[in-house]
Amino acid sequence: MTDIRIFPDRKAMTAAAAEYFIQIAAKAIEESGRSSVALAGGSTPKALYEMLAGDEYRERIDWQKMLFVIGDERNVPPDDERSNYGMAERSLLRPLSISDKNIVKWKTANGEPEQIAERFENEIKDAFSLKHGELPRFDIAMLGMGADGHTASLFPGTKALTESERIAVENDVPQLGEVRFTLTFPVINNARNVMFLVAGADKAEAVKSVIEDTENGVDLPAGSVRPSNGTVTWFLDEAAARLLMHV
Ligand code: 6PG
Repeated sequence: MTDIRIFPDRKAMTAAAAEYFIQIAAKAIEESGRSSVALAGGSTPKALYEMLAGDEYRERIDWQKMLFVIGDERNVPPDDERSNYGMAERSLLRPLSISDKNIVKWKTANGEPEQIAERFENEIKDAFSLKHGELPRFDIAMLGMGADGHTASLFPGTKALTESERIAVENDVPQLGEVRFTLTFPVINNARNVMFLVAGADKAEAVKSVIEDTENGVDLPAGSVRPSNGTVTWFLDEAAARLLMHV
């Protein structure tokens, strides 16, 4: 089931996304005593993280019962301004005093990309107590999307797009001239709830292509996000949604 929610501006989109996040997390905690989220990177989610850590939401759930996983990462140290972990740590994790044991991040400061990805993957297996071959099932897989239709660090034409078994991999992205780290489609598509947070006119083409044209074979990476047993909810501002015809 795909739900498209369009808001007049980023602020309204972020507020709706915060309410949705809390409701999903609270339900998971009520039902199982814990919740898990794969956090999106980039710039769009920062306002959401700050809102969740703010006065209106910080008391709404028991954050210590939540597992936070950095969904994808750049190959930079945590204190680098490009670090997705660094952004989440400053805007969400530190303000909510989330303990390290409830965070799984890519330890990019040391090791080769393959080792970094393998270490991250092993930490996820431990955190979810996975048996061999099992995939983690996130309550929330939060995703952004680039103007090229990439999501997480699953970029067009890159090797990670076809990864069908591993939980997390390093991914060489020639169009960026860098290595990235990312959860894979098998994990994203195993989530209970995927939430896309996409804003800005520059994303409108990709939004239309992924939401309305994917059936026509216009296959951008974000179009491969199709949870086998889960929901997809798009949180869009009007600028990003402006080319959608059927909403
Ligand atoms: C990353 C992200 C990436 C991001 C999109 C959108 O590490 O860059 O995970 O998938 O969500 O690039 O980024 P903005 O929110 O900055 O537009």
